[in-house]
Amino acid sequence: MRALIWNGKEDIRCETVPDPTIQDGRDAIIKVSACAICGSDLHLMGGFVPTMEQGDVLGHECMGEVVEVGKENNKLKIGDRVVVPFTICCGECRQCKWGNWSACERTNPNGEMQAKVYGYPLAGLFGYSHITGGFPGGQAQYVRVPYADVGPIKVPDSLTDEQVLFLSDIFPTAFMAAEHCEITPEDTIAVWGCGPVGVLAVKSCFMLGAKRVIAIDTIPERLALAREAGAETIDYADGDLQAKILEMTHGQGPDAVIEAVGLESHGASTIAGAISSVMSHTVSLERPFALNQAILACRPGGIVSLPGVFAGPTGPINMGAFMQKGLTMKTGQTHMQRYMKPLLERIEKGEIDPSFIISHRANSLEDGPELYKTFRDKKDKCTKVVLRPNG
Ligand SMILES: NC(=O)c1ccc[n+]([C@@H]2O[C@H](COP(=O)([O-])OP(=O)(O)OC[C@H]3O[C@@H](n4cnc5c(N)ncnc54)[C@H](O)[C@@H]3O)[C@@H](O)[C@H]2O)c1
Ligand SMILES: [Zn+2]
Ligand SMILES: [Zn+2]
Repeated sequence: MRALIWNGKEDIRCETVPDPTIQDGRDAIIKVSACAICGSDLHLMGGFVPTMEQGDVLGHECMGEVVEVGKENNKLKIGDRVVVPFTICCGECRQCKWGNWSACERTNPNGEMQAKVYGYPLAGLFGYSHITGGFPGGQAQYVRVPYADVGPIKVPDSLTDEQVLFLSDIFPTAFMAAEHCEITPEDTIAVWGCGPVGVLAVKSCFMLGAKRVIAIDTIPERLALAREAGAETIDYADGDLQAKILEMTHGQGPDAVIEAVGLESHGASTIAGAISSVMSHTVSLERPFALNQAILACRPGGIVSLPGVFAGPTGPINMGAFMQKGLTMKTGQTHMQRYMKPLLERIEKGEIDPSFIISHRANSLEDGPELYKTFRDKKDKCTKVVLRPNG
């Protein structure tokens, strides 16, 4: 089959790799009808995530048709149309039972390696390095889904692939980020980053009843998408961001802030920042500029919600502001199974159609490597890429 593979930093290729096969009774094989490139994939492309190996199949946002099912899998049958979450969960361990799905204790075969870095093993992830299990991803014609009796959800034929594909990651991620803000009808939420996650977070904040949402980025078409989602917007490159946020909130500040940028954030406005930016471009050091801006802007006693991905030790974070103001941080890889079904229902009811963020489509994987660059460089007004690996 054809698949997008990681060949090294900045080097994504479309190559022929062996077809996946059933390896465990709970597995299923999915023929991928649609998959997407995520901001998290850009962190792999940029070489920020350790333990990637040459030839690793990428992709963790995918859906398609079940073409093979393991003997012990009673949930799926051949022909089912399913969306596959990016996390792999057993459904039986302590963390899965508590609903902390992304902390599943059993699905990462390299859990020991992960525990050395994070203290504990966490859920296996598709296409996201060997520290998360080394599972081949879904930017491929076929994907093996382990524990397929727990993760994938069936979707009705009345909805198109593009309407439901983002249930695989970014819509639940954005929704969990909004939920973490504990929104009340009086609340103003500020969102850093108007990429796919940030824009869907704006939508989710309004779905959860926020009064106002202020969205921050510098890319005009992304700011325009955030406005379309109902936000007031600020271009962070245009003057003093903190002063603008205070002015827009009558000196009160946002009640909660969402950092939907992650470890590659831009915006070195000081000399120290510029030096750290140059350093991080040289050695792939994680940079928390947006996180620091969000911490600074959050009102005392407020909440910092962090869906943006960090992978390891990060440049200086303003813990002084965080501690002195008594802030709370909520973060994590998304607990997908908490959100997939309720959000599918919201799509079915017509409350939201997440496909509005798609700008680029391709009917094969061959264009994938070029589209990775287009998405990374925000070229050609690219906001989200969807590929159809089987045409
Ligand atoms: N927690 C999870 O489970 C989970 C799931 C999916 C994605 N993510 C993460 O969410 C983040 C966003 O994903 P995406 O797909 O929207 O990525 P993206 O790269 O398309 O978007 C990031 C946006 O942030 C903007 N930005 C950069 N620096 C900024 C700054 N200082 N202030 C404001 N905006 C700034 C960029 O211009 C860009 O538009 C990534 O870190 C991704 O890894 C997390
Ligand atoms: Zn993702
Ligand atoms: Zn589990």
